Amino acid sequence: MRPTTFQHRPFLWTLLGKRHLITRLQRVNILPLHSLSLSERIDTKMGVDTMLSRKGKEPGLVVWYPIKLTWSRKYLIPNDEAEQDRLDIIHHVFLLLLDGKLFRAPIGDDIQRILDVGTGTGIWAMDAGEAYPAAEVIGTDLSPIQPSWVPPNVSFQIDDAESDWTFGSNSFDLIHIRHLNGGIKDWRKLIGQAFKALKPGGWLDIAEYECFLRSDDGSLSAESSLFKYYELVNEAADKMGQEFKIAASLDQFILDAGFDKVRHEEMKVPLGTWPADKKQKEIGAFLLLTTEHAFEAFGMALLTRALGMGIPEVQELITAAKRESRSRKIHPYTNQHFYYAQKPFDDSDSE
Ligand SMILES: C[S@@+](CC[C@H](N)C(=O)[O-])C[C@H]1O[C@@H](n2cnc3c(N)ncnc32)[C@H](O)[C@@H]1O
Repeated sequence: MRPTTFQHRPFLWTLLGKRHLITRLQRVNILPLHSLSLSERIDTKMGVDTMLSRKGKEPGLVVWYPIKLTWSRKYLIPNDEAEQDRLDIIHHVFLLLLDGKLFRAPIGDDIQRILDVGTGTGIWAMDAGEAYPAAEVIGTDLSPIQPSWVPPNVSFQIDDAESDWTFGSNSFDLIHIRHLNGGIKDWRKLIGQAFKALKPGGWLDIAEYECFLRSDDGSLSAESSLFKYYELVNEAADKMGQEFKIAASLDQFILDAGFDKVRHEEMKVPLGTWPADKKQKEIGAFLLLTTEHAFEAFGMALLTRALGMGIPEVQELITAAKRESRSRKIHPYTNQHFYYAQKPFDDSDSE
């Protein structure tokens, strides 16, 4: 069996058993993602139903996760199994958004060395290792949550992305950073270190989301619990010096570091099954699935620690926010930002 992130964890799709979840996804049997190859997983034509059901072949499996949340002092989002499952679902959302591609940077096939900073479960790094078997792929993270059984060209190491990097200058063809929002205080330094570590002609590829919901038709009111939840999470993160609001404003850091061909693109990511468009609906369904866990993961530590709210108060807000997120009358979405930029071929400052 091919090694994947999922083998050592309860099945990813267990939350589907919860009765209040998206009606369309209820009562399906559960197909663990590790039984799918990368190409199957990135086949956008499969659709949610195919991904999540194996009708008539296996009984559905329902496992309730215990509420066990642990946080590191530096990064205020837990790294427990439910969080790891959330990260893997988000990875699938990215494959849908990018039509099966792993990054936006227009890099050719001659890739020898790839760095994935803040790799999480390592799922992106492992997919990159599979897509580029001749390349060496290194994933770094604060937390040792990556599997040990990985493709031979992939390795993981524990590293704080904010400390001084020990990687050689001019040593990577591609540096990938995705969803480090909330874990980085000094983005200028991080991007500067990435510049130094890239080979001349190498590419930086960053994907960050706005931790903020909006609607184009006014259906998400500022009085709603859903809106209030995100507002409070941002307020708390600001207070802790871990602000989430950098997603839209990394251009200057990238330019200042010395990169060329800086591109900044934005995509809407809906929350919920409200979009008419099939692909957007599918993305929204997966994102909704993650909120079952994400609201607690993001909110509990931040709101109790930074804003001094009580656990029951936060729980009440989260319950209401979840209820609203499942309403098809509210049409919320977040903006996902993609940046990619190339280190100039003639750069001579990096030695
Ligand atoms: C939201 S997850 C994203 C994981 C992965 N990049 C992905 O897209 O699947 C953020 C990850 O970054 C890690 N992280 C946060 N701050 C970090 C830091 N300063 N240095 C290294 N890793 C960090 C966390 O431990 C977590 O695994």
